[in-house]
Amino acid sequence: MSAYTDLLARLPQQRKTWLITGVAGFIGCNLLEQLLLLDQAVVGLDNFATGHRHNLEQIRAAVTPAQWARFRFIEGDIRKPEDCRAACVGVDYVLHQAALGSVPRSLEDPITTNQANIDGFLNMLVAARDARVARFVYAASSSTYGDHPGLPKVEDRIGKPLSPYAVTKLVNEQYAEVFARTYGFRSIGLRYFNIFGAHQDPNGAYAAVVPKWTAAMIANERVWINGDGETSRDFCYIANTVQANLLAATVEDEAATNQVYNVAVGDRTTLNELFEAIRSTLEPRFPHLKGYRPSYRDFRAGDVRHSLADISKARALLGYVPSHRILEGLAEAMDWYVNDLTGR
Ligand SMILES: NC(=O)c1ccc[n+]([C@@H]2O[C@H](COP(=O)([O-])OP(=O)(O)OC[C@H]3O[C@@H](n4cnc5c(N)ncnc54)[C@H](O)[C@@H]3O)[C@@H](O)[C@H]2O)c1
Repeated sequence: MSAYTDLLARLPQQRKTWLITGVAGFIGCNLLEQLLLLDQAVVGLDNFATGHRHNLEQIRAAVTPAQWARFRFIEGDIRKPEDCRAACVGVDYVLHQAALGSVPRSLEDPITTNQANIDGFLNMLVAARDARVARFVYAASSSTYGDHPGLPKVEDRIGKPLSPYAVTKLVNEQYAEVFARTYGFRSIGLRYFNIFGAHQDPNGAYAAVVPKWTAAMIANERVWINGDGETSRDFCYIANTVQANLLAATVEDEAATNQVYNVAVGDRTTLNELFEAIRSTLEPRFPHLKGYRPSYRDFRAGDVRHSLADISKARALLGYVPSHRILEGLAEAMDWYVNDLTGR
């Protein structure tokens, strides 16, 4: 039995209280759904900066009324220490997802990104430490590899950050390490690679590539590829990300804590390949996509050219085994987007 199958069987018998910050966002609401389905008690914190109430409504519809009753939502801001303190009361595990994502957003407004991602992170660390939570799992980022040329990316070989966003995620790791050393506080950082799946926002200037392209293709609008399309990423389906969070929060091996882990699949996909994968998955339902082609424009500032993860550390220490490779994830995600965007 895999560590995750075992955990899924065990958790409903041992109810814990989890805090998810950024619960109205893409990754946060997927974590919420899985934990409620496992009969866990969940506190959620969000200020709706980029998250949505409709995400929470959709999770409510996906669980039973009894499971939903175990969810307590706090509308609050991680930039306020008092909101962080209130959210941590009685919590066993923190899954800290709240942050302002997006490299371009951070280039345009580094100060606001810094406030949420560094001040907010530190507020959460202090509140979680003072509440004596058992484990603090936080969303780190593959952007921390910066200009390091090595492929695949291995956790202990990082380069210099290429954007303000990457700086904030690096500082998160440094704070977590210092809190381990100075206060004996236990945390785990998960360096997410490009995560995709249900509830990821297709709208706005900073939308991620999978939902943005999917929405554009369904609407028969133009899809832009930044650069020549040979830029590559390790696209990771949300179910893998949820798995990594639950394993990280509950892993008992002391050697596995106070570490950072790549969360990805270990597959490299170019943007051209991604375009074709989405197009061909949607084409049977949207015949206008036959022969549909992308448009190309300049490379985007702050982007790394290639990103591919070595996931052996998470495999070895957390028992992480990705359940979905990119095409399996895309098939599920496309079903969700078609439903959500067209109501079919
Ligand atoms: N999606 C990815 O591919 C990816 C990759 C690497 C890292 N990450 C990290 O994962 C985490 C979750 O990302 P996501 O993709 O779900 O993004 P998201 O924007 O959908 O979710 C972030 C959530 O945090 C909330 N939030 C932002 N600032 C807040 C504040 N000051 N107080 C309270 N809540 C606040 C937002 O309203 C939103 O609901 C972030 O830390 C992000 O940096 C994501």
